[in-house]
Amino acid sequence: MAKLTIRDMNLQGKRVFTRVDYNVPLKEKGGVLVITDLTRITATVPTLNLLLQQGARIVLASHLGRPKGKTEPSMSLRPVAATLSELLGRQVAFAEDCVGPAAEQAQAALKPGELLLLENVRFHPEEEANDAAFAAKLAGTAEAYVNDAFGSAHRAHASTEGVARVVAARGGPCGAGLLMEKELKFLGEELERPAAPFVVILGGAKVSDKIKVIDRLLEKANTLLIGGAMAYTFKLAQGAQVGKSLVEPDQVAVALRALTKARARGVNLLLPVDHVAATPVAGGKVDKKGRPVTEYQNPRVIAGDNLAATEAGVDIGPATVQNFCAAIAGARTILWNGPMGMFEDKRFAEGTIAVGRAVAEASKRHGATSIIGGGDSVTALNQAGLGEQVTWMSTGGGASLEFLEGAVLPGVAALTER
Ligand code: 3PG
Repeated sequence: MAKLTIRDMNLQGKRVFTRVDYNVPLKEKGGVLVITDLTRITATVPTLNLLLQQGARIVLASHLGRPKGKTEPSMSLRPVAATLSELLGRQVAFAEDCVGPAAEQAQAALKPGELLLLENVRFHPEEEANDAAFAAKLAGTAEAYVNDAFGSAHRAHASTEGVARVVAARGGPCGAGLLMEKELKFLGEELERPAAPFVVILGGAKVSDKIKVIDRLLEKANTLLIGGAMAYTFKLAQGAQVGKSLVEPDQVAVALRALTKARARGVNLLLPVDHVAATPVAGGKVDKKGRPVTEYQNPRVIAGDNLAATEAGVDIGPATVQNFCAAIAGARTILWNGPMGMFEDKRFAEGTIAVGRAVAEASKRHGATSIIGGGDSVTALNQAGLGEQVTWMSTGGGASLEFLEGAVLPGVAALTER
């Protein structure tokens, strides 16, 4: 990687502004907010331990949720400070605000080898506006900047970009943390020249979300497996009956172009050959936001492509599972992004879990490099207890996707060149 990392920096006794991505899921239990998934916090521990070993004064900053520039108690980072403290086995101080007297006093009191977590940076609208004056206040007296927040690196916000500029203007080094370094290695360098056969598995709802990734990966992949609802837009493009499956009719031309490109480049592009279908009905229930919830009744396997007008495809079928797993078994490099169906519903999780098992198996059997590009596929893999068995699971969602598209991430661009 051409960017400085904390391994290259001497941070002994230095005030280090450290951007982390502690945008973690919180749930209220008995009047207390509880963190339901610690992955993003534990993933920063190696970086924090290295900074502690060096005797840095660590100021941690993050966002949580989308409070739209206002203080929102349900999105406070306070529970994270307590959890981090338990994980590190040492005290983590907490400042009630990320700028102003609370932050200044807490930072002034920090001794070498101590940590402070600032309150949610998005409680101020200037964070997302990347306001220069706010970035200068947020930077405080930092002498160095570390970004370990890969999940937020696609945002050009004050804490991900502006503060790095402030610190750099002071002559301070700006480097990647160990998590950021690994994310860039696996989602970037490893996929630059992947060992063949390179099998890419893409799923999820929309072609429009993934088309740039599809386009870029068609340049490198030997095999591209497409599942999830996005497969139905491809099926529609091929003239199949897709019934009530989720489709994007305006993306049909885009899907056709991808199919043509795959043929021209000799990429083996596989679509589902059978389906788990169900009948969507409005059951009268509404979700938390008052939107009607669709219920899926009478799940059944449909061989071939033509779904009845009343049914929707909700998972890949058993013959498709076999085809996909056979392709994965021979892979030396695997990239997976997006589930194969509505895996949140156990009845429709089989395809996604089978793909997860095949990826884990290929990694174990013949050491295939398996990279899971964040979001729902990571959730699915963890739910199936297979998370430990793959090479790398990204902590990014939108950031992973943008990076895989080949975009320059502002949070990475702002770091010092080596
Ligand atoms: C994420 O969860 O993808 C990151 O923390 C970024 O959050 P955002 O989409 O609200 O910027």
